[in-house]
Amino acid sequence: MLSNLASDSGKRSSLHGHWSSRMAFILAVTGSAVGLGNIWKFPYVTGQYGGGAFVLVYLACIVLIGMPVMMSEILLGRRGRRNPIATMALLGSEEGKSSNWSWVGGIGVVAGVLILSYYSVYGGYSLAYVLKSAAGTFSGAGAADVIAVRDGFEGSWKAVGLFHTLFMGLSIFVVARGVERGLEQAVRFMVPALLVLLLALLGYSINSGYFAEGFEFMFTPDFSKLTWEGVLAAMGQAFFTLSIGMGAVMAYGAYLPEETSITGAAAAVAIADTTIAIIAGLVIFPLVFANGLDIDAGPSLVFITLPLAFGNMAGGIIFGTLFFILLTFAAWTSAISLMEPAVAWIMEHLNHSRAQAAVMMGLSIWAMGLGTVFSFNILADFTFFKGTIFDNLDFLTINVMLPLSGLMIAVFAGWVMCRNSSADELGSAGTSYKIWRILVRFVAPIGILFVFLKSSGLLEFVENAVQRISGAS
Ligand code: PHE
Repeated sequence: MLSNLASDSGKRSSLHGHWSSRMAFILAVTGSAVGLGNIWKFPYVTGQYGGGAFVLVYLACIVLIGMPVMMSEILLGRRGRRNPIATMALLGSEEGKSSNWSWVGGIGVVAGVLILSYYSVYGGYSLAYVLKSAAGTFSGAGAADVIAVRDGFEGSWKAVGLFHTLFMGLSIFVVARGVERGLEQAVRFMVPALLVLLLALLGYSINSGYFAEGFEFMFTPDFSKLTWEGVLAAMGQAFFTLSIGMGAVMAYGAYLPEETSITGAAAAVAIADTTIAIIAGLVIFPLVFANGLDIDAGPSLVFITLPLAFGNMAGGIIFGTLFFILLTFAAWTSAISLMEPAVAWIMEHLNHSRAQAAVMMGLSIWAMGLGTVFSFNILADFTFFKGTIFDNLDFLTINVMLPLSGLMIAVFAGWVMCRNSSADELGSAGTSYKIWRILVRFVAPIGILFVFLKSSGLLEFVENAVQRISGAS
């Protein structure tokens, strides 16, 4: 096998099979990208960090940092063709540098596992809301009723834990069967259907009488409301929503056929993902204003606004149920991509079958997820640093681990890897290649580092020190 590795890297083939077509790859990465991040997380962080200015920074991060890093991950994955840890080690030594680059893959795999531990809890929420909608719980409900339902659910660790368990079971099931089978079909149907339902909801929120307020909140930047922590959160959200910085896209890239254009695929995914997030915001904020809800309600924002909307529209039971089914699907196709890198690693390193690896990994992630399950009820008062266990996990993964591993990926693809290797994967050295290279060598790393230093206060510390020294001289 190793001799095969050392030969022409362009011809290396994946250990775990290939996507059947370019479309299949785009769908799978879109399935990974479009998830709770778009509909659950984007609106609530936008609400917490003050709206327009946050959205603007987020969009800039998608284009200037997210896109080039995503292209880098795909090209590294396709060149290495194994799990992210092995891929980084292999490419590191192949480029004549260190195999210790495997650490970058390692941070990503661990981030994916930690993220899935709480992602699954919110996937479980979505699943629970399918049943609640179908049972007509929200029919004719007012804001107070919907909040009471949320409080009742969240307050019970048994209920939250049960649905977390079910959601994790679904994820283990698909990963155990292999990513190609079944998944492509689900995504092919899921993304368009989700978009159609979101557009229907958009119609509803346009008629809510508060569309202008919601629109203004999202698109009128007020930079006085933006903190450096907000900028960091916007950058973290860009990584999270595009599924980058944690090996998921790298793992999927490993199964990508040789001739597929990476630039085109990455652009398609980024456009689909951003459109869905923006529409979700345009659905949710007008409803927040129309119903006098709390704009910084945090993680359960959509589980209040949307049931309220469905509860008061014609055919709400059907639309509401369908919507949460699709949201569960969206979360599911993301969850499996969060699990795949770790599972591929176990298969390659510990020599387990795919099914065994999926069950082992799944059970460990499930157990870690209990920390988040309890963050809303029995351990709600157990807070430190950024808040509850969930708050800390969220901060550590999204605001620290993803940007760090994104930074290292950009540095690797832009500086460590020689020009010939990256041009070989991205095809030619045309304009798009040149733009990519500038972004990945300069804009992305400097941007990430700057935001990082600024939001952690380190930059000010240095500035003050410099001032003190120059003042003293
Ligand atoms: N991008 C997914 C979402 O927006 C979350 C995710 C992150 C999935 C990382 C896979 C890897 O919901």
